[in-house]
Amino acid sequence: MTSINQRYSEKFRKSGDLYSKGHGVIPGGGHQSRVQKPFPYFVSNAKGSIKYDVDGNRIIDYMMGFGSLILGHSHPEVVESVTNQVENGTHFGALSELELTWASKVQNLIPSAKRVRFTSSGTEATLLAMRLARGYTGKNKIIKFVEHYHGWHDYAIPQSGLNTEFGIPSDTLNSVVVLEPKISLIEDYLKSNEDVAGIIFEATGGHWGQFPLQNPTFVKDLRELTTRYGVIMIMDEVICGFRMSKGGAQSRFDVIPDLTTMAKIVAGGLPGGSVAGDEKIMSLLSEQDGVQKMFHPGTFNANPVSAASGIATLNLISKESINQKADQSAKKLKSGLREVLHKMEVKGHVHGIASIVHLVLGVEGEESTEGVSSVSHSELAKATMGDVPKTLKTAFLNEGIDIMGGMGFFVSAVHSEADISETVEKFENVLIALRIDGVI
Ligand SMILES: Cc1ncc(COP(=O)(O)O)c(C=O)c1O
Repeated sequence: MTSINQRYSEKFRKSGDLYSKGHGVIPGGGHQSRVQKPFPYFVSNAKGSIKYDVDGNRIIDYMMGFGSLILGHSHPEVVESVTNQVENGTHFGALSELELTWASKVQNLIPSAKRVRFTSSGTEATLLAMRLARGYTGKNKIIKFVEHYHGWHDYAIPQSGLNTEFGIPSDTLNSVVVLEPKISLIEDYLKSNEDVAGIIFEATGGHWGQFPLQNPTFVKDLRELTTRYGVIMIMDEVICGFRMSKGGAQSRFDVIPDLTTMAKIVAGGLPGGSVAGDEKIMSLLSEQDGVQKMFHPGTFNANPVSAASGIATLNLISKESINQKADQSAKKLKSGLREVLHKMEVKGHVHGIASIVHLVLGVEGEESTEGVSSVSHSELAKATMGDVPKTLKTAFLNEGIDIMGGMGFFVSAVHSEADISETVEKFENVLIALRIDGVI
């Protein structure tokens, strides 16, 4: 009987060869978050919900550009808009109307977006939002929560799941306060520490909701607390923006943050991000009384090609039932996965809000009507951060399905009923393989 890893090595043989070559050129053999054990696979092309690798394998994709592609790969309208733009110039070294149109689309959809500034990634968006919060309040510290991920810059790293603070100055680390996301704990800290500029958090909980917050209560309570203590509330909607609803998590939970960070869907799968928010805070980015207090340059920020992609994507999200389609498919996927767990008598549960699906093996639990798991953070951490998720991803890939590490699925508006049924059917084979390998 071949093991999961042996089967993978045979199925993805050409990728294995390429990965070996990669080590001579790229540290780690390739971009870090795409490297996996026993070795990563190389994709050659993708369309809709499907991607094809260099060995010719057809793969149903639930990575979806790490959550960027709610319209699937190469949506025809995005392709047309981007292609036109590439033909008409990729960088003008001057303003273009595209930036204005793109910002207006964000403004129309995201309730807190009184003003919008573009960056080139989510990491840059959270870096800028933190700096704005410090500049506006004149205070130094930023509170973040355990296992909430806000990118890879120095202020976002502590307890973000990246597990190393190597190379970051201690003064920087000292300005970041990491707390459990519990209102009473946060209030205790704020009572005795006056130097807090802002609180940043993932709107549905750490790691795109893998560790759910008790929403909408938590976010509403945090809004009340931050207002009372004069602390800037930064809602990180890099994942949730345009996915939890057209207007992101803030529309879904009816809570307006001071600042919102976005990336991924905002640029329709091309590099891009943005910070939006309160007019007074955002005005720190413009000249006041002849003085420019805060600088935010960046050669590729608001570049025309990302703008073209973002505009086409946000247009479709505004006008069509993109979110509803993705949410319905996610619902079907959740119930299918649950049925298989039950049928195969495997301990586990499924949860997730809107078009995000989290699969947790090894712990029974319930899902609330808002998609929140009943299981504690510590139990979820044990289940989703050990070896099981890595092997699960490999076992799914052997069945021609790619899921997010940490056991989850980004469902798009173009995943078909057939994709969902095939995924559910193959989940049975995945569990059989995991059993044979002694993983579950
Ligand atoms: C919630 C959240 N914030 C920030 C980031 C960083 O975005 P980027 O990878 O575009 O730098 C991510 C990336 O996954 C994220 O999920």
